[in-house]
Amino acid sequence: MGEYMYEKLSSVYQELVGTIQGSQYFYQLAKKYLNGKLLDCACGTGELVSLFYENKYEIYGFDLSAEMLSKCCYPHLVKQANMIDFHYDTKFDGVMCFCDSINYLLSIEDITKFFTNVYQHLNNNGIFIFDMHRYETLLQFTDEYYQSGIINDISYEWQIEVQNDLLLHTFVIDNVAEQHVQRIYSLSVIIKLLQNIGFTVETLNEEILGDYALEKEVLIAYKKEN
Ligand SMILES: C[S@@+](CC[C@H](N)C(=O)[O-])C[C@H]1O[C@@H](n2cnc3c(N)ncnc32)[C@H](O)[C@@H]1O
Repeated sequence: MGEYMYEKLSSVYQELVGTIQGSQYFYQLAKKYLNGKLLDCACGTGELVSLFYENKYEIYGFDLSAEMLSKCCYPHLVKQANMIDFHYDTKFDGVMCFCDSINYLLSIEDITKFFTNVYQHLNNNGIFIFDMHRYETLLQFTDEYYQSGIINDISYEWQIEVQNDLLLHTFVIDNVAEQHVQRIYSLSVIIKLLQNIGFTVETLNEEILGDYALEKEVLIAYKKEN
């Protein structure tokens, strides 16, 4: 135990922690709303950054984990930074943050810092799109979840348990354990925080999200200043 988050998981992340259709799904969704200069927060291995870049968008990304970033095909587009205090000397037209990355922020204070930082990095009329676990996810894992297998000759185990509003993931990759903690927030709390910062907020429904709506909440926050 004791490995830093994603130090080991990064070696099997792309195969193991896919979403329904992975980055392609986020790409198709995000490009419906975003245009201009883009930023992917907590970009992980940079799959989404790569997709946008290969489709001629101007995009940058950052993540806390050096191991995740080291897998990115376009290292010049990404950097190591923290959601709560990242900084760019430029503003963006669109900001995204997918795959429940915001649930890694464990306090309302940190979530507020992140949303405020996003707001400050957006141009007027800029759009922020992100997803997060649904509150119901806590019920889904009241019975402990366990899976194991082998990916590219690397053995893994993945266990999830719930403790109050926390999701505790234990990964054992190549016999080394790594623990990840995520906090689940209610939709109404998150909407209120965004509105307090100045965003106008919309949630996306099943009609737009398809089956993904069963797993995650997806929110769009607009910066509209007069
Ligand atoms: C589930 S992965 C999602 C990665 C990517 N967004 C994707 O769609 O594949 C969560 C990511 O959040 C990053 N992360 C966690 N806490 C962070 C923080 N405070 N600041 C920046 N990145 C963070 C992790 O390093 C990890 O790469």
